[in-house]
Amino acid sequence: MDKLSNDIPSPVIGHRGIPSLAPENSLEGLHKASELGVGWVEMDVTLNPDGIAVMSHDPVTGGLGSSPALPTLAETLQRLNELSTGLNLEIKDHGYPPELIVAQVLKVIEQSQVPGDHLLLSSFNSQILAQCLIQAPHLRRGLIAKTLSKDWQEISVQLNLYSLHPYWKTLTPNLVTEIKRQGLHLYTWTVNDPKAVRILWSSGLDGVITDYPQRFK
Ligand code: G3P
Ligand code: MG
Repeated sequence: MDKLSNDIPSPVIGHRGIPSLAPENSLEGLHKASELGVGWVEMDVTLNPDGIAVMSHDPVTGGLGSSPALPTLAETLQRLNELSTGLNLEIKDHGYPPELIVAQVLKVIEQSQVPGDHLLLSSFNSQILAQCLIQAPHLRRGLIAKTLSKDWQEISVQLNLYSLHPYWKTLTPNLVTEIKRQGLHLYTWTVNDPKAVRILWSSGLDGVITDYPQRFK
């Protein structure tokens, strides 16, 4: 697999790092993914009760140093810089005001000096993406959806989206073609069997988010 051979997310993105080989959303997972030549990973970020951005899929109730110890976003970005790995950063909606969580996340991104072309921000929550557009219009935004709503085209324009990230079982070749016709990039999750999306590549699918990047050689 090419590592960051260009400035777009690669066709194979490790879901929560590489959870088939290391704990999800962990620094260990970043190293493992990098060793295997995986150029991009998806990871989840939220805030802990002290307002610090930490890597977790689920809501976080303890502060730094509580168990389990979660990597901070700052540590994660530093490691990604060292490894030259790209990050699809999913900003979780765990009830924090969108403007607050986005401001906290962006503050860390700015301090990390991670190149903008190594980042793709995404969220299920369109209000979070709207805040990303207001606060950091230069960073790419992707909308995640279990099923795309009927007005996905309008939303994509409003949020000036780079990409859509629908659940793979909801995609058909026609829908892929339509999304691509609108000039959007398309990443789908969580695809663990390469055969499941084989037909979609020829319609223009840009990439998969997978627990098993090693299966997509
Ligand atoms: O970014 C796609 C995927 O990670 C969304 O679902 O629940 O695994 O964060 P989840
Ligand atoms: Mg995620």
